[in-house]
Amino acid sequence: MLYSEKVMDHFQNPRNVGKMDDADGVGEVGNAKCGDIMRMYIKVDKDSQTISDVKFNTFGCGSAIATSSMATEMIKGKPVKDALTLSNRAVVEALDGLPTHKLHCSVLAEQAVKAAVKDYYDKNGIAYGDELNVCDHDCEHCTGE
Ligand code: FES
Repeated sequence: MLYSEKVMDHFQNPRNVGKMDDADGVGEVGNAKCGDIMRMYIKVDKDSQTISDVKFNTFGCGSAIATSSMATEMIKGKPVKDALTLSNRAVVEALDGLPTHKLHCSVLAEQAVKAAVKDYYDKNGIAYGDELNVCDHDCEHCTGE
């Protein structure tokens, strides 16, 4: 089968879909390869600096939906700084893989999470390093193509 059961499950029943009106950080990114876009919202518990809630909206393909859904589950309830180390590879592994020509879709989820954290840091005057400079290139190490 082309797609794993987990991919199909997250595609058909995506978790944390929607908008968030009182988000602490919003990230919107586009995929250079296909032109699809993704918006990610995070709510941060200021005392513990953890992500208390997360929502996403995408005009992307099924793989983008599945990877974003999995990514939101992986960062929800976790420290904000942990969300920065979430890689598209880790999300793909958690979904038991994606076909190679769909790996670029998973980059959208990773970058939207980072963009949302960057927005939160910017709004709150929190300093950050190069790890938050969201890349919109199509480098092989991310896309696997
Ligand atoms: Fe555009 Fe998958 S084809 S995100």
